[in-house]
Formats: sequence, structure tokens, C-alpha cells
Amino acid sequence: MTRSFNPAELSAAEAYALLVGIVVPRPVAWVTTVDAAGIVNAAPFSCYTFVCNRPPMLAINIGRRGETLKDTAANIADNGEFTVNVATEDTLVAMHASSAEYPPGESEVLALGLATLPSSHVAPPRLVCSPIAMECRLERIVELGEQRSSLVIGEVLAFHVDEALLNGNRIAIDRFRPIARLGGPNYATLGSIITQPKVGQSGPTEPR
Ligand SMILES: Cc1cc2nc3c(=O)[nH]c(=O)nc-3n(C[C@H](O)[C@H](O)[C@H](O)COP(=O)(O)O)c2cc1C
Repeated sequence: MTRSFNPAELSAAEAYALLVGIVVPRPVAWVTTVDAAGIVNAAPFSCYTFVCNRPPMLAINIGRRGETLKDTAANIADNGEFTVNVATEDTLVAMHASSAEYPPGESEVLALGLATLPSSHVAPPRLVCSPIAMECRLERIVELGEQRSSLVIGEVLAFHVDEALLNGNRIAIDRFRPIARLGGPNYATLGSIITQPKVGQSGPTEPR
């Protein structure tokens, strides 16, 4: 038996509950931004993926807090810069803690004692505890739906990857330990890695 849901009859919260349970596992972008006073903000977002590879672009969907933009979205709309730090098993506890509602102007980075490194192209710094970071410049913000969430699309200006996680220019998936968000307060680590033979020209391929 299958149960069907009509989106038109679902509240925003009910649709959200289905979506966050269905679209799993989601990687976590731990986003640093800076406000007009130079205060560094850090918050995690799992409604996130890459959307273009030349130039490389990432997209992050940031919901509102009632009518108000979250600090991350407000800072990006203001100055057009952000850094995506990849959340890993080792950073799970701090990353999760940084999702608490700190008032604007209060730095999660300072409150949680997170060490930072200056970025090379943008003002938002990298988090030292994150082995991979991507410095981004805002490409565009697309406002979506009744709740006017901000789909933030950013161009990656620099990738920073810990040498230990590289095999040549590729990510060594056997050494990378990303953490993934599931529905509710649940997270997952990577399970077993299953390798398939390459398919031919007529089959599906990853963009290159
Ligand atoms: C793992 C994780 C993933 C999250 N993903 C999202 C997301 O994709 N979009 C969103 O709006 N909020 C998401 N949140 C909630 C934000 O992190 C939270 O609202 C945070 O307080 C925003 O901080 P800011 O106001 O400093 O930007 C997530 C929280 C956690 C713990």
C-alpha cells in the first residue's frame, strides 16, 4: 500500500517534514559570513548542493525566521561573500551547536571557540577544524515560495583541501569523513562505499 500526499493540502511544516526525511543523506555546508561590523557568523545548512562546475557554483537554501532573514542570508545579501566549510564527523558537535539562535552581532565562532584562518578572496574566514573549505562570491539569490526562502547561489573562487584528503586532484573518499543530515536531529556517516563499473557513452555520466 502506498499513501499519497497532495502538497496543496500540506502545511509548510508538514511538507518540510516529508522533504527532510526523503531527501537524505544531505551534506552539511557550515557557512561563515561577516556582518557590517566584521563579526564572523557560522551556521550549518544542509539544503545544499553544487549546481555548476565551470565556473564551480554551489546553492544553499536558507529559510526565514518568521519574516526575518537568518543572519547568514542577511550577511550574504549585504556583502555577497561566504565561505562553505565542510562538516565532518570530527566537527559534528560544534557544527550542531552553531545552529543555535545567536542574536545578530553575536559570533558563533567566538562563542564556541572555533579557530579561523583568513580566506584569500573573501572576508568570511575558514574554520581551522574543517578539512575542506570553499570561498564563494554571490552569483544570485532566488526567492522561493510563500515563505520566501533564499536560494543562495555562489561561485567558488577558491577550494582549500587538506592534502591528507587528496589523491592527486581528486578527493580520497576512503579518507574523507563527511557528516550527513537526515530528518529531525539525526545524522549519518558514510556507509560502505560501493563501486560500479563505468557505463558506456549511451549511459548516464557525471558532468565533466
Ligand atoms: C545540520 C543542520 C542543517 C541545517 N540546514 C538548514 C538549511 O538548509 N536551511 C536553513 O534555513 N536552516 C538550516 N538549519 C538551521 C540553521 O542552522 C539555523 O537556523 C541557524 O540558527 C541559522 O543561523 P544564522 O541566523 O546565524 O544564519 C540547519 C541546522 C542544522 C543543525
